[in-house]
Amino acid sequence: MTGAGTTSPRGGNDTQVDAQSWHRPSTPASTIGPWLPEGALGESMSAGLARVEAALTAAAASEHAFVSETAGHLMAAGGKRFRPMLALLAAQLGDPDAPEVVRAAVVCELTHLATLYHDDVMDEASVRRGAPSANSRWGNSVAILTGDFLFARASDLLADLGPEAVRVQARTFERLVTGQLRETVGAQPGEDPVDHYLGVLADKTGSLVATSARFGASFAGAAPELVSALTAFGEEVGVAFQLSDDLLDILSEEGASGKSPGTDLREGIATLPVLFALADDDPAEARLRELVAGPVVDEAEHAEALALLRGSAYLERATDVLAEYAERARARLVDVPAGPVREALSALCSYVVTRTS
Ligand code: IPE
Ligand code: IPE
Ligand code: MG
Ligand code: MG
Repeated sequence: MTGAGTTSPRGGNDTQVDAQSWHRPSTPASTIGPWLPEGALGESMSAGLARVEAALTAAAASEHAFVSETAGHLMAAGGKRFRPMLALLAAQLGDPDAPEVVRAAVVCELTHLATLYHDDVMDEASVRRGAPSANSRWGNSVAILTGDFLFARASDLLADLGPEAVRVQARTFERLVTGQLRETVGAQPGEDPVDHYLGVLADKTGSLVATSARFGASFAGAAPELVSALTAFGEEVGVAFQLSDDLLDILSEEGASGKSPGTDLREGIATLPVLFALADDDPAEARLRELVAGPVVDEAEHAEALALLRGSAYLERATDVLAEYAERARARLVDVPAGPVREALSALCSYVVTRTS
């Protein structure tokens, strides 16, 4: 996933942050999702997460100090660790202490992290995880190559998980980059824009979230039916997660998400509320349609478009679609034995709908 997308519709210019004025927090801000349970399950997962963190730190280290700095930059800045947490939770359906589980969780987070370095180049984003993005600190070349370095480290760890895992990950990665490519070039002639959009979400985000759940369950030795159920669950909860990310890009206040809100509008990436607006012919919404027909780069127009979208029925409709995906994910849990693990997975479905960052 290299390349800055010179043919991309992304044309906006992000607000720059002053890289010099930013100081790395002394402790990594990795957070445990509010959907996690208390008690023995939560404790087991916290222990797993501590092992994931140690392995992540080791995976970002290089004999070259500059490489360690760039590769460790976003890892230290924070992040929700959503994918490794899901892998650890899915592993509770078998033996969560199986040695491959943590390794697989680390592979998923490293892959995700690498895509963030590349995605910020594509989106010309200046802030990530509350820190200056790698591209804004060191330029596009360093950001792209650091992403590649992290992919290489993920592959190294993956090799020890065996050829089947390598193939699963290769196909996941293929889907992820295909999703980013399809988003970049847009819907093709004759393709329904909403179908295209939902397909992009499944590929760019659902794919890796599905693999995180799959790896967790399978390396813990869960029964094949459970591995399949968790994979399908991950795919749908992953689409819901990206849908909520897209809504938060419209709804969140500056500083709340650790990213610059409104980036999708600036870059001309039409997310679901915008697609609903563009497909409508309500004369009362003509100004909104005019504004969001392409990248919204002018600051006043950007603020106007955000305000119109926030107050629109299109946003409500998109929120309904998010809730539908979350319920579809929940329905995949029907064959998971009742108990704290299923409850936590179900709570995750609620979390993706209500999350604010
Ligand atoms: C951001 O992912 C990119 C998406 C697929 C929406 P996260 O929201 O999981 O980002 P971090 O890891 O918490 O920074
Ligand atoms: C990118 O989606 C998802 C991947 C990195 C595969 P976004 O562009 O919406 O992610 P953010 O909002 O920058 O995190
Ligand atoms: Mg982005
Ligand atoms: Mg986004």
